[in-house]
Amino acid sequence: MPSGDTEPLMKASGNLAPATSQDMPSAICTVHAAFWLTVVAGIAVAIVDIVVMKTIWAMIVALCAPLIFVVIFGILVLLPPRCGCIGFSGSLQISLIQHPDYVFTRLTMPIFNFMQGMELCDNAFCQRARASVGKNYVYAGMVSISEWQIVKKTLTSGQARTTYLGAQPLANTPKVDRSVFLLELQNLDKDDNHDGFRDCFYHYMFREGFQERVDSANSKKLWEQLAEDYKTMPHGVGDLFFTENDKGLRGFLIKYFFYVMLDIDANDPEVMKTLVKLMGGDTAIALAYLWPFAGHNQSAIKAVDDLIFGSSVMGKFKEGEEKFKKMTKLELTRLSTCIFRLAAVTGTLQLAKTITGGLSMPPFEDMDKIDVAAEWDKLDLGDDSALENFILEVGRLFPPVSSVHHIATEPFSVTIQGKTVDFPTGTKILVPTNLAMTDKEVWGVDAFKFNPNRPGLQENSMVFANVGPLGSRVCPGMRIAMDTCMGVLSVLGKIRRGS
Ligand code: HEM
Repeated sequence: MPSGDTEPLMKASGNLAPATSQDMPSAICTVHAAFWLTVVAGIAVAIVDIVVMKTIWAMIVALCAPLIFVVIFGILVLLPPRCGCIGFSGSLQISLIQHPDYVFTRLTMPIFNFMQGMELCDNAFCQRARASVGKNYVYAGMVSISEWQIVKKTLTSGQARTTYLGAQPLANTPKVDRSVFLLELQNLDKDDNHDGFRDCFYHYMFREGFQERVDSANSKKLWEQLAEDYKTMPHGVGDLFFTENDKGLRGFLIKYFFYVMLDIDANDPEVMKTLVKLMGGDTAIALAYLWPFAGHNQSAIKAVDDLIFGSSVMGKFKEGEEKFKKMTKLELTRLSTCIFRLAAVTGTLQLAKTITGGLSMPPFEDMDKIDVAAEWDKLDLGDDSALENFILEVGRLFPPVSSVHHIATEPFSVTIQGKTVDFPTGTKILVPTNLAMTDKEVWGVDAFKFNPNRPGLQENSMVFANVGPLGSRVCPGMRIAMDTCMGVLSVLGKIRRGS
């Protein structure tokens, strides 16, 4: 656990208080004690069975008692949210978070992290959770705090981290002899590797040759192919233009990003085949990086690593640079493979789909009734600022990355459903940017309406882990993602208007 710096939330004066006590509440009257009671009772029954009754069945049932207890508790946590009882599920998890090292927590928590973490990736679910429980709630083993000031303070402060993408536990993240996965690295102290590694990534992806490749004849051809695919492929919600791997929108993004950032020519069918094995579909990402499936796509990861390692951009890599925390070529290669899959292609594809009507908006407060394609048809395609606002407004209501996370470096307390609850150092805190970006106290009563001209949109957008121009770990791909989405709106918009 990182030390030295103060938990950023503590600095957000008037919002989060320190824990009311240095010790967490006793576990005597909690589920932990009940679990051990079933263990003790099971052993007692087994002994009686061996000594007196001599029937093997009573012993088996008795020894299974702790397991049955775990299963029943799991059902009680996982089932009620399906009937809308999100608060009940959360209240059962509080004691687990307060006592993270207890056996019962270790047995149950990974399942809750994974299963409920998936639900927290669903924007409409998070909105329903806030509507029913309030701005702070416990879910997926995390404390979700959506107060605007706290989210803003967190995004602009250093953070301790773990191996999560928002609420989703990851595994198999890139490393050589040390971890290089930016999202799991803390940025609390000046000696931390995070900022140096991020600068290194930025330097090699976006400096030498990048702009020339963006303006090149090869890029122009890729844009022309995208336009051609839009004309020839069906492009309604869920249609081929949005779902194919090697053509349509995803095919374009794979080819374009690998070309402009890494100078890899994916027009070569063999290269594209290699890239699609990792960058295509949704299963590949789960088998590569999502816990508990991760690690089953190693050959695809290795093949993309080899392509990136051999690229001309990596050919210019200089080893041992102090300003980049001595990041090595192999480390940057492995980081890039993972970032291209988890962030670059996946994030930009979702945003590009949403702004072009390929994905419905979340079904909450009538957001799903917003006809994004019809709004797009009204846009002035020659006005860059209008295009940018359009993308940010769609992203505000339906952000591709719905939240980020950090780890409490001190005990803290938070009010959940009217009660002050203490949580220990090490608690995973969810930072739900999706909820902050639809907070009616900040955005007004029309927070769920589509209005690209709304005041404060650019200054307060959190789509890229930023707060407008500010942020301590803002997405380094923000500019290329925005420019590419603006290009998509403009190029495909012209086709829609028959020009
Ligand atoms: C619409 C597309 C995108 C969206 C919405 C997006 C959003 C985000 C968000 C919210 C984070 C913070 C995640 C966290 O801290 O847990 C992030 C981090 C990151 N993104 Fe993006 N991203 C997009 C595209 C890209 C692209 C195209 C690239 C690559 C060129 C990229 C590279 C990264 C990297 C390297 C980080 C880690 C930054 C750090 O930890 O300091 N992203 N992105």
